[in-house]
Amino acid sequence: MVIKKVTDYEELSKKGAQFIAAQIIMKPNCVLGLATGGSPVGTYQRLIKAYQDGSISFKDITSVNLDEYKGLDGTHPQSYRYFMNTNLFDHVDIIKENTYLPDGLEPDSEKACTDYEAIIDGVGGIDLQLLGLGHNGHIGFNEPNTVFEKNTHCVELTQSTIDANTRYFNSSDEVPRQAYTMGYRGILSAKKILVLVSGSAKASILAQVVNGPITPEVPASILQLHPDVTIIADAEAAALL
Ligand code: GLP
Repeated sequence: MVIKKVTDYEELSKKGAQFIAAQIIMKPNCVLGLATGGSPVGTYQRLIKAYQDGSISFKDITSVNLDEYKGLDGTHPQSYRYFMNTNLFDHVDIIKENTYLPDGLEPDSEKACTDYEAIIDGVGGIDLQLLGLGHNGHIGFNEPNTVFEKNTHCVELTQSTIDANTRYFNSSDEVPRQAYTMGYRGILSAKKILVLVSGSAKASILAQVVNGPITPEVPASILQLHPDVTIIADAEAAALL
C-alpha cells in the first residue's frame, strides 16, 4: 500500500484527479470503477475541469460503479445513478451507454446481482477502481460481516451506514435499507485501486484498515492483500497512521 498524506480535502481532490487523469491519458479507453459519497466529489469536479480545458476525454471510457440502493430508480435524487450523472457524467463526454451501475429497480435481487456480474465480466476488467471508506470500514456497500462476499450481492445496510447517509435524505426513514454492491472479486480484480479518505471521523477506521488484521469485520482491510493500492488521506484522516 502506498499512503499519500495531504493537508486537506482540496489537496486530496487535486491529487485524486491527477491520479485518475494520468490513468485516462495512459489508456484513453480504460475501464474505471467509480464510487459515490462525499469523498470523490471534489475529485470529480477537478476531472470535469480537466475535460473542459481539453486535457482529458472520457469518450472511450467505460465505467462500472460499486453500488446502488435497491428500490431507487435513476431519476431519484439520492440514487447513485443520479449522483454519477450530476457529479460527473453530465459534464463530460462519456457515452452514457458505457456507464454501468447495478439496477436499483430490479426487485429480484438474484437477477440484479447476476446481471451485474455479467456486466463486470463483460467490460473486460477494471483498470482503476476508485473507493471511498465507510465509517465502519465498508467499501462499496460491503458492510462488516463474517465473510468476504465474492460476488455482487444484496446487502442489508447497517445502522452506522444508514446514519451516515441520512444527511442526503429528508429523514432516516427514507434511507433504503438494502443495496446492491459489487463484491470483493470485482473490487480486488482491478489492476489499480485508489482510496480517498478525508476527515477526523475516518481516522480510527483508517488506522485499522492499514495496520489492523485482515478481517471481514473491517471490510477495507482486505486491500492489504492487493498489489497496487494507493490511499490518499488528508491530515485529519491520517492522524492515527
Ligand atoms: C457510502 C457508499 C460508499 C462510500 C461511503 C463513504 O455508503 N456506498 O461507496 O465510499 O459511503 O462515503 P463518504 O465518502 O461520503 O464518507
